[in-house]
Amino acid sequence: MKRLWDKDLPVDNLILKYTVGNDFHLDERLVEYDIQASIAHASMLKEKGLIKKDDYHKISKALKKIGKDHKNGEWKIDLEQEDCHTAIENHLTKYLGSAGGSIHLGRSRNDQVLAALRLYLKDVGDNVAKELELLISKINVLIKKQGEVQLPGYTHTQRGMPSSVKLWAEGYTSELSDDVIGIKLATNRADKNPLGSAAGYGTPGLNIDRELTTKSLGFKSTHEPVTAVQISRGKAEASVIFEITIILGDLAKLASDIILFYSDEFSFLDIKKNITTGSSIMPQKNNPDVFELVRSAESIGIASLVETLSISSKLISGYHRDLQRIKMPLFRSIDIAIDTIKIMTHSIENISFNEKNIILNPDIYATEQANKLALEKNISFREAYKMVAKKIDEK
Ligand code: ARG
Repeated sequence: MKRLWDKDLPVDNLILKYTVGNDFHLDERLVEYDIQASIAHASMLKEKGLIKKDDYHKISKALKKIGKDHKNGEWKIDLEQEDCHTAIENHLTKYLGSAGGSIHLGRSRNDQVLAALRLYLKDVGDNVAKELELLISKINVLIKKQGEVQLPGYTHTQRGMPSSVKLWAEGYTSELSDDVIGIKLATNRADKNPLGSAAGYGTPGLNIDRELTTKSLGFKSTHEPVTAVQISRGKAEASVIFEITIILGDLAKLASDIILFYSDEFSFLDIKKNITTGSSIMPQKNNPDVFELVRSAESIGIASLVETLSISSKLISGYHRDLQRIKMPLFRSIDIAIDTIKIMTHSIENISFNEKNIILNPDIYATEQANKLALEKNISFREAYKMVAKKIDEK
């Protein structure tokens, strides 16, 4: 028997292929989390006397081995098995016979997939936060080296007021630090234990203890009532994708600044040649492709967020297979975000400002002059503004 729902009737292969899609590939990353959740579930069943102590020890040992073998590349989920939950239970029954099948008491793949996804999302939150801290530390190195270099501050892409590398870069470190808080808050939505909600309506006739799995898996709380769990599918995912998109938005602005400052017309900064790319036709080119691709990653985040929100939108309560499709935008945006933060950390070490090319003309001090004039002459800012503007116009 391959699938958990097999009732010894043949399955239409085209239907199986379509309904599984690439979910069996996507589920590869959830295997380790489903193993954790399965061990916690089995332990709870043992505590409640719902499976034999002896069976629990066998199940937990076998699950650990199945997880280790998967990590070592000894098995992969196949299409026939549909998902990681089935593949793991198949392996378990292969090792233990009917004792392996006893683990499915009081659970459904509907709460299993949410448990695995939430454990994964909590790890993603920690990972993204760690990568962001690393990027911030590299921007701080640039500030330490070249913070004093002056820069024009722009509004409307027109020179507005004097700025500096320090002021410019600290805008980014401040926002990225805020993004660290954002991603941590987003994973709060994933910090509720769905196990025990089973297909979405609990486990009638069974005296299970949901608090036990909440504690052993390190969730902050138990997701109550059982009917809330399926309504929430996609919400933690959307929160994480939203925060990721915010991060990618900050990185896109940083990349855009670098691309502009690197142009021949600006020449404010240099990018080390080995992180630029060449042109197939123009021998002189050293292109900032890496920053252009960083800039475009935000769009993938936005598209993934819209995709995720629309998949769950307007469904009735309870589980629906539609929800499976959320994994694709979720994983895609997470992977792009982590890769993008990492490449920015690497690339930022390869830029340096060209102080001699950054010349501020006197007009850029006009606001400062108007401020000072207002104080010195005890006149309103508007009057001072007009006086300074007149002087500039007369030039
Ligand atoms: N791959 C499925 C998903 O992500 C797992 C749950 C399947 N449940 C079901 N009743 N068919 O949603």
